[in-house]
Amino acid sequence: MTVAWKESYRIGQSAVDQQHQELFQSLQRFEELSSAQELETMFAFLLHYLERHFADEERFMGDIDFYEFEAHRERHFEFQLRLQRLSEGAVSEENWQEVALQLQREVTTWLIEHILEWDLRIGEYYRELHSNDRTFDLPQQATLLLCDSDRSSRRRVRQVLLPYQYRIDEAIDLGHAFRSASEIRYDVIFLHCPLSQVGAQGAARGMAHFSDFRRRLRQLRPTEGETPLIFLSSEEGVVGCEQALKLGADDCLVKPLAGLEVKSCLQRWLR
Ligand SMILES: [Fe+2]
Repeated sequence: MTVAWKESYRIGQSAVDQQHQELFQSLQRFEELSSAQELETMFAFLLHYLERHFADEERFMGDIDFYEFEAHRERHFEFQLRLQRLSEGAVSEENWQEVALQLQREVTTWLIEHILEWDLRIGEYYRELHSNDRTFDLPQQATLLLCDSDRSSRRRVRQVLLPYQYRIDEAIDLGHAFRSASEIRYDVIFLHCPLSQVGAQGAARGMAHFSDFRRRLRQLRPTEGETPLIFLSSEEGVVGCEQALKLGADDCLVKPLAGLEVKSCLQRWLR
């Protein structure tokens, strides 16, 4: 199989990119092996290298307080377990070539998918943290409410808005959010209803709660302008977004939240 590093795999953090390139080079060498013994040595090296690479990448994620840290680390751990199991399979003089090809294919496929699906987001986040935000004309002060039961998603919004020093109150469910909104007039409210976790009926219930939240908010301060409600939808959330907009959301963002989208959304609604 073709095992080649591509520019599109670059995440923009030189140490991680360097290690990814070295991993691809190691995988290419699976085609140069000439015995079962060499395969075992090569596989042991690869296991060791991956372990070091994952540890380095995780340290980097921790340093920048990456919002998906836990889930990402879990992917590394799962793959290490899978490799561990593969390494326990018997290699003999008869089957080593077949095993070498299988290992090369498994690791390469995983690595490419993992980089594209997970590692590139670390790079995107890192760049956002260091971008100077000149493209966004956001006000100096704002009071936001962020309702989401998922801690990593709340952390994500905080990280994106770190340079602005906004007051961001958090809530973990709609009841909690409504109590906070009764006491404080927020400039913008972000709301997540976990539609996808509970099936079609649960989704309908979630949307009913959402629509009820909008109605109660209107009753709360009928004379003031309405607080913009930004619906946070899960990954498979296109339907969720459409429904939310029909039920009174002013805007919708799909998770995982991209920093640029959060900021451009706030630019539309913060005045
Ligand atoms: Fe990774």
